Amino acid sequence: MKTITLNTPLDMHLHLRDNDMLQTVAPLTAKSFAAALVMPNLVPPITTKEQLKSYAQRIKIAQGEEDFEAHLTLFFQPTYTKEFLEEVREDIIALKLYPAGITTNSDGGVSNFDIEELRPTLSAMSELGIPLCVHGETNGFVMEREAEFVSIYEQLASAFPNLKIIMEHITTKESVEALDKYPNLYATITIHHLLITLDDVAGGMLQPHLFCKPIAKRPIDREALRRVALSGHPKVMFGSDSAPHPQSAKESCGCAAGVFTAPIALQLLVELFDKEGADRENLQKFISDNAKNIYGIHPKEKRVTLEQKPFQVPPIYGNVVPMYAGEEIGWSIGLVE
Ligand code: DOR
Ligand code: ZN
Repeated sequence: MKTITLNTPLDMHLHLRDNDMLQTVAPLTAKSFAAALVMPNLVPPITTKEQLKSYAQRIKIAQGEEDFEAHLTLFFQPTYTKEFLEEVREDIIALKLYPAGITTNSDGGVSNFDIEELRPTLSAMSELGIPLCVHGETNGFVMEREAEFVSIYEQLASAFPNLKIIMEHITTKESVEALDKYPNLYATITIHHLLITLDDVAGGMLQPHLFCKPIAKRPIDREALRRVALSGHPKVMFGSDSAPHPQSAKESCGCAAGVFTAPIALQLLVELFDKEGADRENLQKFISDNAKNIYGIHPKEKRVTLEQKPFQVPPIYGNVVPMYAGEEIGWSIGLVE
């Protein structure tokens, strides 16, 4: 049987939620990943040191016995001072900026991208070496939102050349092209955006469990994402954007955005790299090494062996339906040590 061992897999964009949902999903990521960057879009969003401390505690309890480190993020607000950021520095890995209202629980995000308005907080982050993670979409036409946001990335990248800016869950060739134009722009890519296009979401019967923000784009965009991920490009990291919602919120009139991939992300990733004949070293870079370099983190080592053996995706985890529910995928998780 063919096997592939990954060293210290990292998920650099993850939604763990809270309460019952946290109990359901945290162990699934904690089992097969060594660490993850956890998003702050709770209700209310994470904006204080107290919230960071107590969320970290709740995650610790929910992850159980697994060796796993949750790196928290703070919900970006342009009012944060340098003093405040110094106080929370030890509790966070980055800040996450959401345009106001663009996605789940982002109402308190940024509504004005005037650089001068953002300057005090972004300069402080730059001085303190705190990276900025960005959900890059305008409120324009849904298929163009990310491409339109590229000019904002460019303004930010040139105005704050020492600030590491991570373009989260990129879905377009325009974002891929921006990567190489600015030394301080980086990106995460999800497994679902490497696998699907808009056709899979809405080309036939509408598939609520594949609906997310940013929405999956054109084949040409998926090609660009695959090229950059499969090549092990040093500025690109895996970030699942696994975003669980209760089945009732997905299979309803007004479907919540988010694809739940935590339990199958590694299997699908290995399957894709294997099918495409990509270099194993590039997979290792994409799943771990690049993120370690970009964020300067030193996660505790965890070796995860994937086996080329069918895995039947469960129909549901708690009350959350995963991507490819009930279907068979080609790889399974074997030994974790
Ligand atoms: O599809 C998405 N779901 N995109 C996001 O940006 C947020 C996420 C969520 O929190 O549900
Ligand atoms: Zn997300």
